[in-house]
Formats: sequence, C-alpha cells, structure tokens
Amino acid sequence: MFVLTERGVEQGAAMLARAQAEEPVVKEMGMIRMTDSTPASQSVQNQPFPAIDLRDITKQFRTPAGGIYTALHDLSLTIQPGEFCALVGPTGSGKSTTLSLIAGLDRATHGEVIVMGQPVHGVNPHVGFVFQTDAVFPWKSVLGNVAAGPLYRGVGSREAHERARAWITRVGLAGFEDRYPHQLSGGMRKRVALAQTLINEPQILLMDEPFSALDVQTRVLMGNELLTLWSSTSASVVFVTHDLEEAIALADRVVVLTAGPATVKGSYSIDLPRPRNVTEIRFNPRFVELYHTIWEDLRNEVMISYERSKQLAR
Ligand SMILES: Nc1ncnc2c1ncn2[C@@H]1O[C@H](COP(=O)(O)OP(=O)(O)OP(=O)(O)O)[C@@H](O)[C@H]1O
Ligand SMILES: [Mg+2]
Repeated sequence: MFVLTERGVEQGAAMLARAQAEEPVVKEMGMIRMTDSTPASQSVQNQPFPAIDLRDITKQFRTPAGGIYTALHDLSLTIQPGEFCALVGPTGSGKSTTLSLIAGLDRATHGEVIVMGQPVHGVNPHVGFVFQTDAVFPWKSVLGNVAAGPLYRGVGSREAHERARAWITRVGLAGFEDRYPHQLSGGMRKRVALAQTLINEPQILLMDEPFSALDVQTRVLMGNELLTLWSSTSASVVFVTHDLEEAIALADRVVVLTAGPATVKGSYSIDLPRPRNVTEIRFNPRFVELYHTIWEDLRNEVMISYERSKQLAR
C-alpha cells in the first residue's frame, strides 16, 4: 500500500509540475489549462479572505485489500495571506495528502478546501509546488526550465527569457543558464526548481520537504535564500518538514499534526524577529524555548506513530 501511495503522490507531483509549465503535457493529461496570468503581488494584499481555508477535512483512501483508510480526520486549518506556515508531524500522518488537497491534485472525502476564497475543483494556477524530489525537466537547460512557466502562460519568448535570466540571477545561478540539470549539484537543482516556481508569482507556495535531500550546510543556505526570496513576494507558504528546527527558523507559525489520521494537534506562533538568519536564530533563547514546547507536542505523536509501525512489523 505504501509503495502505491508514494507512486500516486509522485505521479501527481509530476503532473502538477508539468501543468505549471508546459502545455503539451497538460493537454495529454486532460488537465485544466492555465490561462490566468495575474501576478500574485497585485491581488494578495488586503484580500478579505484567508489564503487557504481547510474546513473539517476528512480524506479516506481505498486500500488494496478493499478496506478504507482514513488519512485525515476533521482537519481544520486557516492560513492567512503572506503567512509562512510550517507543517510538522510523524511520517505517514498526512502532510503530503494535505498539500495535494490544497493543490487540487486530489479531493477531500468530506469537508471543504477553499483557496483564495474559492472552493478547489482542480489544479489551481495560483498555487506553486516545490517537491522533495527534483521536478525539473531533464531535457531543458536551466534557462529553458525557468522560462517554461511564462512561455506556457503566453508570455513572449523574449520577455520570458529576460524574466528567467533575472530569476536565475536571484537564485544565484547566473552563468549557469546553459547547463542541464544533470550538470548541476543537488543544491543548484533546488535553486532551479525555486526559480521555476517563483517566476510564476504564485499566491500560494506549497513545499513538501523541499530541502531534505540536501546536506546540512546547503540546507541552511537554501533556507536563508528561501526567506529572502519569500520576503520580496506576498505569497503564503505551507512548508512541510520533519525538521522542527528548520520549521521554527523559517515559519511564522508551526502546526503540529497528530499521528494518522491527522488532525491539528497544536498551532504555535513563532514570535522571532525578521529578517532571520536561519543559522543564528537557533541560538536565540526564545528559539530554544519554542523548540522545547513544540517538541513536547510532536514527540508524543512521533512515539505513537513509531509504536504503530513496530506493531505492524511484528
Ligand atoms: N493514494 C493513496 N492510497 C492509499 N493510502 C494512501 C494514499 N496516499 C496516502 N495514503 C496513506 O495516507 C497516509 C498519509 O500519507 P502522506 O503521504 O500524506 O503522509 P506524510 O505525512 O506526508 O508522510 P511522510 O512524512 O512519510 O512523507 C499514509 O498512511 C499513506 O499510506
Ligand atoms: Mg510526505
């Protein structure tokens, strides 16, 4: 079951990544064509509704044995425009499932998923998704990858490539425009993925363990870069991570999910000053205090999940 699940999420991820950037694949998948090119910054400020509103969401999956597995149960979560929210919870608790519902890759069994004031009925063009695995096009250069989104949205070739060059510079890859993904390091590919997503000016940015495959130093650098890039946008972010330190260092709020079926166990406002340096903020006494408080909550859920997995293994 788990293998199927992972594959399902990966396929959804690939579909969304392609849908965000490339018309032929969108047609092939029979997905909604994205025609709206309104930049996020024009409409997010002062909007009278939350960016994301999950209302009493329950998500059930059919198991291969014909049973029903409840992944999310009565999960309610509201994310405000411009808010950076980190989602933490034990493995298998339903974090990726929650993101896929917000992105419109899957539908809730019960409850309402409302994004930018509208119920979600399919892939939303205002939502950007950065995945754990690389979702860049291996056959395109860095420039081609980053320009793909605007080109698909109907921006002229010259302007799309100019904007792509500007984003490539912003993510620190100037000079690498002609390289292909296999000629880049993991951190560089992550920068391409960020530029490829942010160039579309998403109003909502969903990130599913985006830096977990990177080494610790690169991960911290990418965290700082993400905060710098995000501060120049008005996007709301939902950032899934297993790393509580990373969650606290980056976010305005950390939400702890219960071991599956997931519901919100706790929501913690991170009252640390911005701008933040992801490395240095960890030495702030308030950071340590927050870490201990949230970890108390998270640890219990991790232990429940761990005990369950041991029982299943018997
Ligand atoms: N398509 C599916 N069919 C059946 N079960 C599924 C499906 N997708 C997810 N699940 C189950 O729902 C639960 C939540 O999965 P999900 O991938 O959302 O967890 P997660 O919190 O992202 O875990 P991890 O931290 O390991 O990435 C898991 O038990 C998983 O097996
Ligand atoms: Mg996951």
